[in-house]
Amino acid sequence: MSTILSVAGSPSATSRTARLLHYLNARLTSDGHRVIELDIRTVSAQALVGADFQHRDIVASTELFAQADALVIGTPVYKAAYSGLLKSLLDLLPQDALSGKTVLPLATGGSTAHVLAIDYALRPVLSSMGAAHIVQGRFVLDRELDLREDGSLVIEPTAAKALHQALDQFSCALAQPPMLPAAS
Ligand SMILES: Cc1cc2nc3c(=O)[nH]c(=O)nc-3n(C[C@H](O)[C@H](O)[C@H](O)COP(=O)(O)O)c2cc1C
Repeated sequence: MSTILSVAGSPSATSRTARLLHYLNARLTSDGHRVIELDIRTVSAQALVGADFQHRDIVASTELFAQADALVIGTPVYKAAYSGLLKSLLDLLPQDALSGKTVLPLATGGSTAHVLAIDYALRPVLSSMGAAHIVQGRFVLDRELDLREDGSLVIEPTAAKALHQALDQFSCALAQPPMLPAAS
């Protein structure tokens, strides 16, 4: 079983993306994986904005990435791309922080116009950081995620089915032997 780092990239205190990740993490945990949650909005803003590589929050985040076999990375779509908050953390990680790791990218957004944001914006960044296998990502419309006052999350059934299929593919990829780096 794998150690999975689940990274939430929204600055919102009532983030749908973070709630969605939490819901999916419960399924991964019940599948037997060890899931660690990292909500970037809890990382020191001063460290992120000031590019303070030595700050304990950045050092701790870097360590979490290093320990993980795989990652779920969730972001809201902001201005047709992923969030600046996510980018501000990725910028402070080592260039090879995703080396050898399997990644499931997820995005929530308000418009189907940006359904491909994961593919044209986030995927190239994950590749550049060495991700060994980026499984098919999923985009979920914000209106398909109903955050109830009691804190529960109700997902529109078709979206929920697609998300569980994404987790199935992710789990399958995790069960594969790790890919060897290409010979130089
Ligand atoms: C500043 C800002 C910019 C946004 N830009 C887009 C956008 O370009 N395309 C889109 O589909 N949704 C956009 N949205 C909608 C959010 O992506 C959507 O509501 C998302 O689910 C919010 O996730 P969160 O609750 O986790 O922050 C934007 C929202 C905000 C606040």
